[in-house]
Amino acid sequence: MTRAILVSGGAGFIGAQTCKTLAQAGFLPVTLDNLSTGYEAAVKWGPLVKADIRDRAAVTQAVRDHDIKACIHFAAYSLVGESTKNPLKYYDNNVAAGLEFAAALLSEGVEALVFSSTAAAYGVPQTSPIPESHPLAPINPYGGSKIAFEQALHWLGQASPLRYTILRYFNAAGADFDGDIGESHVPETHLIPLICQAAYGTRDALTVFGSDYPTKDGTCIRDYVHVVDLAHAHVAAVKRLLNGGESRIYNVGAGEGVTVLEMLAAAERALGRPVPHVFGERRDGDPVSLVADVSLIKAELDWAAKHSDLETLIRSAAAWQKNKLY
Ligand code: UFG
Repeated sequence: MTRAILVSGGAGFIGAQTCKTLAQAGFLPVTLDNLSTGYEAAVKWGPLVKADIRDRAAVTQAVRDHDIKACIHFAAYSLVGESTKNPLKYYDNNVAAGLEFAAALLSEGVEALVFSSTAAAYGVPQTSPIPESHPLAPINPYGGSKIAFEQALHWLGQASPLRYTILRYFNAAGADFDGDIGESHVPETHLIPLICQAAYGTRDALTVFGSDYPTKDGTCIRDYVHVVDLAHAHVAAVKRLLNGGESRIYNVGAGEGVTVLEMLAAAERALGRPVPHVFGERRDGDPVSLVADVSLIKAELDWAAKHSDLETLIRSAAAWQKNKLY
């Protein structure tokens, strides 16, 4: 029987890409998603259980039906700006509901968990690139909620047979190379989709948030990692846990810092057209720079970004923006 992996949030951007990569690796991805932000049309490589992670009966049934031994837990809210206005929403879903989900999994004997965390855990970095051992000092409730769940996993791991891998993503971007799935947030707030939309005239000029940061061109630095690369990191992480690997925390990024203006220039080159933009105020909660130290995941999971060069990121994202299926 094909080994089934439960994927909470498998109808979302990174979750759906991971389901595709799991299927290509010979697993059956079983998506558990309440479709609050995900898309049914993104679930193409295995069954969809349309339920909330809090729905214990549905979680239990899915685990039993598919003989689940491992789970990749994506389901969460992930908008930094929204989290600052509504922290309760973030703690309730990302922590409280996540713990109910973990309890349901553990009571059914699911003892291997890959968890989606974030570079937002680090807050304003003291060093760059940022190693996993960097102090955790989030500057927004989203990052706070992810750390709270990370800490709960730590203590659960001490008190139960749970083994976990925490993946702290930097900036997920790009889209599936076959055009099957991609990023479709409402509202869209992420840089690369907005650049593509501005380039093709489906939205007004992009606003560059801040031009007076202490960087080479005054704009923020981020580490953009292709969603296909991210998906491979999840598959490598779940395989390692299924083979008995101990709990770990890894950064997942390309390990390269790119300013907003560098991304705009790369987009103009890759798309062969101007990207209309204006300069605006800094956005609340934006750290000046977030760049991953990726030496640990390279050493232990033999993972490195392969598709995260700017041209591939932008071209795949633009192709999806032009021919979106949902
Ligand atoms: N930016 C602009 N204009 C825009 C949108 C973004 O200048 O219209 C800038 C931002 O200021 C930032 C960069 O582009 O410097 C990237 O912004 P995104 O909104 O695309 O991504 P973030 O870095 O804010 O956030 C992402 C994820 C979060 C995660 C964070 C961790 O969305 O969930 O990375 O690095 F927490």
